[in-house]
Amino acid sequence: MKMARFLVISIVFLFGFINMCTAKEWSYFTYAQQWPLAVCTEHDPCVIPQSMVGWGIHGLWPSADSLSKGPENCNKSWPFDIKSIESLVPDLKKYWPNLYPDTKENSFWEHEWEKHGTCATSVPATSNELKYFQMGLMLHAKYNITKILMNQGILPSNTARYMTNETESALKRELGVEAMIECAYDKKKTQKQLLYEVFICMNKDFKLIDCNREGESQTTCPKHEPFFYPPLHPGQPMIDISVI
Ligand SMILES: *[C@@H]1O[C@H](CO)[C@@H](O)[C@H](O)[C@H]1NC(C)=O
Ligand SMILES: *[C@@H]1O[C@H](CO)[C@@H](O)[C@H](O)[C@H]1NC(C)=O
Ligand SMILES: *[C@@H]1O[C@H](CO)[C@@H](O)[C@H](O)[C@H]1NC(C)=O
Repeated sequence: MKMARFLVISIVFLFGFINMCTAKEWSYFTYAQQWPLAVCTEHDPCVIPQSMVGWGIHGLWPSADSLSKGPENCNKSWPFDIKSIESLVPDLKKYWPNLYPDTKENSFWEHEWEKHGTCATSVPATSNELKYFQMGLMLHAKYNITKILMNQGILPSNTARYMTNETESALKRELGVEAMIECAYDKKKTQKQLLYEVFICMNKDFKLIDCNREGESQTTCPKHEPFFYPPLHPGQPMIDISVI
């Protein structure tokens, strides 16, 4: 009787332990950037700040080869603390903003830190909250999707039609590795497929690697029809000429 109970407890404990270890295994980062207009197809109300002239950051996510997703929510005892990233807030508001005014401004950062950031702390360059958000901002400047796409003739436009395979090839020419794109269907306004996210993958030393780890493109963009990449602010030039 006692022995049986001991066994049950041991097994439960062992499974918990195995689960804890395997759940935290991951091998690379997925760095996700998003086109604000497409983000707005997912939520109402949605506001794109005038200060935003290009792609926004979605997140930097520990990812695993064999699983569809990487680990999440790795450390419940390390809650988001706005005070540790106070110095970054002006840049975060510009490049990593929460577009949903009916939610708390910090809630997007809080979500990204708690779900993904707490899983990245084993890597020295992202070992705490400040470093994690600094890295997110640094990668945004380094892998400027507006510019990368522009170099390949892919510009925001209300009329241009872009093909998934052409866009994937364009990104590969620029980055030297396979990125991944996602689209969102805009059922509210244009009834069109819009370019939504660009994922770039990198190892734990932040060297670029192919995203399509299983060999085949995992895109949610249409395979045989075009998608659109509309300008952020109608009537406003996409690129701030004063900074060029
Ligand atoms: C979880 O967070 C706490 C508080 O920051 C920290 O002391 C601890 O080392 C973390 N645990 C792991 C496994 O990273
Ligand atoms: C990205 O590149 C565009 C075009 O060169 C530029 O206007 C913009 O300021 C850049 N964004 C960042 C965050 O560096
Ligand atoms: C993209 O696919 C179309 C057909 O759907 C094909 O005609 C075209 O050559 C492909 N382009 C590239 C770069 O693979």
